[in-house]
Amino acid sequence: MTPTAHALNGLLTRCAKAKVLVIGDLMLDEFVWGKVSRISPEAPVPVVWVQSESVMPGGAANVANNIRSLGGQVSVIGLIGEDRWGSALLSDLAARRIDTAGIVKAQRPTTVKTRVIAHHQQVVRVDREQRERLPAGVIERLIASAEARIKEADAVVIEDYGKGVVTRQLLESVIPLARTHQKVITVDPKEEHFDLYHRVTALTPNRAEAGGAVGRELESDADVQRAAREMLQRLECGAVLITLGEDGMWLFEQGGRDVRIPTVAQEVFDVAGAGDTVIAVFTLALAGGASLEQAARLANQAAGIVVGKLGVAVVTPQELRARLTNKPSSIRKRLVRTR
Ligand SMILES: Nc1ncnc2c1ncn2[C@@H]1O[C@H](COP(=O)(O)OP(=O)(O)OP(=O)(O)O)[C@@H](O)[C@H]1O
Ligand SMILES: [Mg+2]
Repeated sequence: MTPTAHALNGLLTRCAKAKVLVIGDLMLDEFVWGKVSRISPEAPVPVVWVQSESVMPGGAANVANNIRSLGGQVSVIGLIGEDRWGSALLSDLAARRIDTAGIVKAQRPTTVKTRVIAHHQQVVRVDREQRERLPAGVIERLIASAEARIKEADAVVIEDYGKGVVTRQLLESVIPLARTHQKVITVDPKEEHFDLYHRVTALTPNRAEAGGAVGRELESDADVQRAAREMLQRLECGAVLITLGEDGMWLFEQGGRDVRIPTVAQEVFDVAGAGDTVIAVFTLALAGGASLEQAARLANQAAGIVVGKLGVAVVTPQELRARLTNKPSSIRKRLVRTR
């Protein structure tokens, strides 16, 4: 093992003791698995003969699941509706030993993304969601739930998918409180709230989100560098970790240091949820005492594994350790099903 790999390996052990609070837009990923053998007589569409169905935590719940998978202790704050999908999400998270006591139930549907998959290929995706502004009472319950749990956490993740949980009020209450208690605070941002992510530990936008933050498309490396420096200055945050899809990621720290990390993916089957894995592992590593660069390198290793799996997936400590010790990859082409 190289010295860097050795350090990252030790870090993985410490991660298991870290406590992370994930605040954001919870989703349920629903999968309908089937076979297609004919075209419908009613319209030019395939007929899917359903073989099985499964669910996985999505959005902020996927971030929580990624943290849990690496052994971290995790509590989630977010919204579900009073419907069967909300109940399915709650029981799925509880079965994974993720603390769900901070989840708020509201009079709106649970966000659900249903993928119909036949012969390993997605046939259609059906989304159920409502993004309107939440009633004041619900926003207040979310804030109270977050405030009650910040002290006992080592780190706070804000996972903003723009579905309504992350509001100005919530950020103006949660960020200063977490700062007062010297918690690690990481944000997976959405454009409209950029100026509210003030003085957090780090933001993890992708290329498009970083472009949205500065109001222009980021094409060249110079564009990415300029945008990152602008964000560091404007938001006074500790770091900006810009994820660049197949080009890996680029860490920019307050003070001028930057590290470009190429992807380590060996096989790419499905990039969905790779950003969730990045913020989960990055935060868990910071909570376990890693430097920004070590945390980013570990997150990049994890993302390189997760894109090799079909479906929104997670990484296990065994898979990460195998990567760090350069053992032959244990990644297989496989479908990711519920338990
Ligand atoms: N096509 C790819 N090839 C290799 N690695 C990839 C690819 N796509 C993503 N990755 C890895 O996953 C990380 C995060 O990916 P990306 O920049 O696409 O995040 P994202 O857009 O936030 O994803 P998400 O869909 O989860 O929101 C990258 O930094 C890289 O390490
Ligand atoms: Mg993302």
